Amino acid sequence: MEEKKFYVTTAIFYANAQLHLGHAYELILADVIARYHRGVGSKTFFLTGSDEHGDKIIRTAQKEGMSPQAFVNVNVGKMKELVTTLGVSNDFFIRTSDQKAHWPGAQKMWRALEAAGDIYKATYQGLYCVGCEAFITEKELVDGKCQHHGTVPEQIKEENYFFKLSKYVPELRRLLESGEFKITPQSKVNEMLALLNTEGENILSDVSISRPEREIPWGIPVPGDPGQLMYVWCDALSNYISAVGYGQADEASFNLFWPADLQVIGKDIVRFHALLWPAMLLSAKIALPKELLVHGFVTSGGKKMSKSVGNVLGPDEFIADYGVPALRYYCTREVSPTEDWDLTREKFKEVYNANLANGLGNLVSRTLKMATQYFDGKITGDAASVPPVGGVQGESAAGLNIPYLVINDLLPRYHTHMRAHEINKGADIIWELVGKLDQFITDYEPFKLVKTDKAATEKVLWGLLYGLREISAMLAPIMPDTAKTISELLGATESGNVGEITFVAKPPVAPLFMRKE
Ligand code: MSP
Repeated sequence: MEEKKFYVTTAIFYANAQLHLGHAYELILADVIARYHRGVGSKTFFLTGSDEHGDKIIRTAQKEGMSPQAFVNVNVGKMKELVTTLGVSNDFFIRTSDQKAHWPGAQKMWRALEAAGDIYKATYQGLYCVGCEAFITEKELVDGKCQHHGTVPEQIKEENYFFKLSKYVPELRRLLESGEFKITPQSKVNEMLALLNTEGENILSDVSISRPEREIPWGIPVPGDPGQLMYVWCDALSNYISAVGYGQADEASFNLFWPADLQVIGKDIVRFHALLWPAMLLSAKIALPKELLVHGFVTSGGKKMSKSVGNVLGPDEFIADYGVPALRYYCTREVSPTEDWDLTREKFKEVYNANLANGLGNLVSRTLKMATQYFDGKITGDAASVPPVGGVQGESAAGLNIPYLVINDLLPRYHTHMRAHEINKGADIIWELVGKLDQFITDYEPFKLVKTDKAATEKVLWGLLYGLREISAMLAPIMPDTAKTISELLGATESGNVGEITFVAKPPVAPLFMRKE
């Protein structure tokens, strides 16, 4: 079935953190998916943004001697710069401190939970981890410390509003078990079900969804009770609907795009997205997102990136050395989206040289140089005239030809993987074609063939140019700039007769990817 619209989101990034490769990865992953769906003709909306309220932000701002608003403005500026640099094609950047774009939606959602009878006021006494921005229980501690942040949580006693999360447990269980609310990979469904089934008391208990304004004076006022501010996760999660217009005078865009087709998040925030968020939506009688894609963590030297370990790798150094297309290549093809992966400079260089400088870059240069040298770049032909791969001149045909392989084998597999968000496998298909084209050159040796049979050489080169055109099309979501360069160098036009393509090719002025020694 052909999809009409595609709404995809990333998590919104804490406005106090300096973005590292982990964050860049999430942006690239979601961008490849968004660009793919846009490319196949879906009306696509791609959202990213910043999470700007809460304890952590206000404390960091205080340390820097800035007002919270001034502080987040500076950081969000840097975030947006990275988003632009990476070539992220987001349609909107939501900021939770945006009183016009975000607050009305967040407050409308609050009122919907209230109307459903799911909010009540009570006194909370217990532990709070600022790192998690969450209330935690004794049971979750390791040596008295938060297992994620290694810090001793704070003892808190205060009046809060609570959300009746417990009421939605049976429905959450049903939605997860039936797959109606899909989580990729499946292992995360099992993790969440295990939480629902065994850890009953802590997860299933109702959750505090506000904090007193005097404690953290930086957040969205609770409707009807400005002495309380919305708890940061409750505020943050609603970005996904406020950003498309929920709570605005005109909700047409919300009605068009919601429910989200895909929400891309990292594995540390699954609970919030797989339990709290759907429960809030059920309470507010809003449809659930169709799918959560949970990606793994980027580690460095085998360890989680952290300032204290001193192993934080920023995207900048890779971009400076290798360029954005190479970083996007790495994040797409060299890692599995649902697993953790380790990044080292050595591995990056190795795959860059093998697959970009040698593999793709070399193929593009060789082909375009031959086309220019032998035919002034101008070659017309069609799929039927391309000789088979593995068939050597003068002998009987051995295999299928490139256009046949592309249309009947490679493209269908590419689309199946891309639709399933298996972007690494989608990218593998592109390099399978690179391999086939290299093989094709080895088979026919056009640089020799040209001396004896120009007409046959032309057919071989046409097959190669055709293959490069398909590579450029499949590459577009992954490395849009490289795809565009290749496409411009090919100068293809579909002329008159069915299946006929004329190329007016020119060689690259410089190699697409310089080899690194
Ligand atoms: N603000 C919350 C999310 C709120 S969504 C309503 C948050 N922010 S974050 O800045 O800490 O993380 C943003 C995203 O980056 C999350 O999906 C997180 O999992 C991801 N990553 C953070 N570090 C990462 C790695 N080292 N590797 C891969 N992704 C990582 O959580």
